[in-house]
Amino acid sequence: MKSSNAAPMGVIILGASSAIAEAVARRLATKGVRLGLVARDAVKLAAIGDDLRIRGAPQIAVRAWDLAAGPAPGALAELAQEMGGADTVLIAYGLLGDQALAEADGAAALELLQVNFTSAVSWALESSRVLATICGAHGLVVGLGSVAGDRGRKSNFVYGAAKGGLALALQGMAHRSALTGAPRGMVVKLGFVDTPMTAGFKKGGPLWSTPDQAAAAIVQAMARPKAIVYAPWFWRWIALIIRLLPEAVFNRADL
Ligand SMILES: NC(=O)c1ccc[n+]([C@@H]2O[C@H](COP(=O)([O-])OP(=O)(O)OC[C@H]3O[C@@H](n4cnc5c(N)ncnc54)[C@H](OP(=O)(O)O)[C@@H]3O)[C@@H](O)[C@H]2O)c1
Repeated sequence: MKSSNAAPMGVIILGASSAIAEAVARRLATKGVRLGLVARDAVKLAAIGDDLRIRGAPQIAVRAWDLAAGPAPGALAELAQEMGGADTVLIAYGLLGDQALAEADGAAALELLQVNFTSAVSWALESSRVLATICGAHGLVVGLGSVAGDRGRKSNFVYGAAKGGLALALQGMAHRSALTGAPRGMVVKLGFVDTPMTAGFKKGGPLWSTPDQAAAAIVQAMARPKAIVYAPWFWRWIALIIRLLPEAVFNRADL
């Protein structure tokens, strides 16, 4: 298995049908990384797996699971075994949802929190348990977070709260790893990426990335993990400014 600063050799992707995850998987496949692919749509999953085999993935195992239900005992360990061992788990699935609906309807809010926070943290913990038995401190659990999780704002604070909570859990896992040698945690906080999730947004301009640009940053971060990574890098500074804005100024911005 990999050393502390080395490219991954076996990666499980939870939410493998996401546009960003697919771009990550393509990059990993061409590097000869073994892949475990999980998504809820078995047909999409089979097509993605076929494509990745052609691109060079030496071993692929797939599972069609509803990830919002959280992990079933033993299932992730079995997947890791079938793909020939894993050192990294990428939690990529997510749901942007509708803020207005979440404010109006408790069930919609619960779904957003269940998909983006509750189940994601439970997968992060299960991933850590499984990786601990395979590769100890060299295991890495990566979650796709969002700059929306850095400061609550009117237009998306339910999604933002879920992503912010996931980021804290992964940051805590990174801290635990430094002190105990348990698998590491890392959150990659993304800015605007042009994917089906952002289909309803007005796109274009320097703040938007393609899924492949996001994937390049994620794969690079997997080889040199840190607790928190912003992708692209300039979002670190934008997020810092947004976090530091005094409340009186922030409250004048209709964001
Ligand atoms: N795009 C952005 O601007 C942006 C910004 C910040 C963070 N992110 C995060 O990046 C990650 C990837 O997003 P994306 O932009 O690539 O979006 P995407 O293409 O819309 O992918 C979202 C994926 O999540 C999957 N998913 C949702 N609920 C699921 C469930 N219960 N079980 C299994 N899979 C489920 C969807 O599966 P189906 O195909 O079956 O629906 C889909 O593959 C997400 O966590 C997102 O929050 C994205």
